[in-house]
Amino acid sequence: MDVNEVIRVRRSIRKYKVKRIEEEKFFRVLEAGRLSPSAANKQPWHFIVITDHEIRRKMKEVYGRSWFYEAPVIIVVCVDPKIAGVRDGENFWKVDGAIAMQSMVLQATEEGLGTCWIGAFHEAVVRKILEIPPHIRVLVMTPLGYPDEVKEKVTKRKKMEEIIHKNKW
Ligand SMILES: Cc1cc2nc3c(=O)[nH]c(=O)nc-3n(C[C@H](O)[C@H](O)[C@H](O)COP(=O)(O)O)c2cc1C
Repeated sequence: MDVNEVIRVRRSIRKYKVKRIEEEKFFRVLEAGRLSPSAANKQPWHFIVITDHEIRRKMKEVYGRSWFYEAPVIIVVCVDPKIAGVRDGENFWKVDGAIAMQSMVLQATEEGLGTCWIGAFHEAVVRKILEIPPHIRVLVMTPLGYPDEVKEKVTKRKKMEEIIHKNKW
């Protein structure tokens, strides 16, 4: 697929096959995160990759949908805000982490794998289960696995004229 096709076919997948993910595909997904741009190239991210069955079961307390904690892999995007770039007192840690997440999501799509951004989770609980140090924030996570549902291409979006401003607002 070219980039345009990847962007169009990516959808949030909420049903996964038990099928294991090939190592090389898994590697390319994580590599896409690692190669992402970040403010001042600080690369403030850490990716926790959960494959262990027991830990995935515990992740039920973090986000209670079975398609999430029963997926073959969960990737948790963590960021160290202290090392992230800053502009006018605003820290870029969320921007950097989100870019890394989306890079992995798009690479996963290219590999035929499904993902779903998960933002509505209990951070205190995930910190405890995954033993995350106090100075690290948990930004987002995604299940990763072969989709067990077919979704149509991205359609429900605002129209171009609603969001594009030519030359000035
Ligand atoms: C920052 C962010 C947080 C999200 N959190 C959740 C979530 O907690 N649970 C969920 O099922 N989907 C979540 N989503 C997925 C969105 O609902 C989804 O991307 C949106 O409805 C568009 O659908 P699509 O991804 O299939 O194109 C999140 C997406 C983003 C970008």
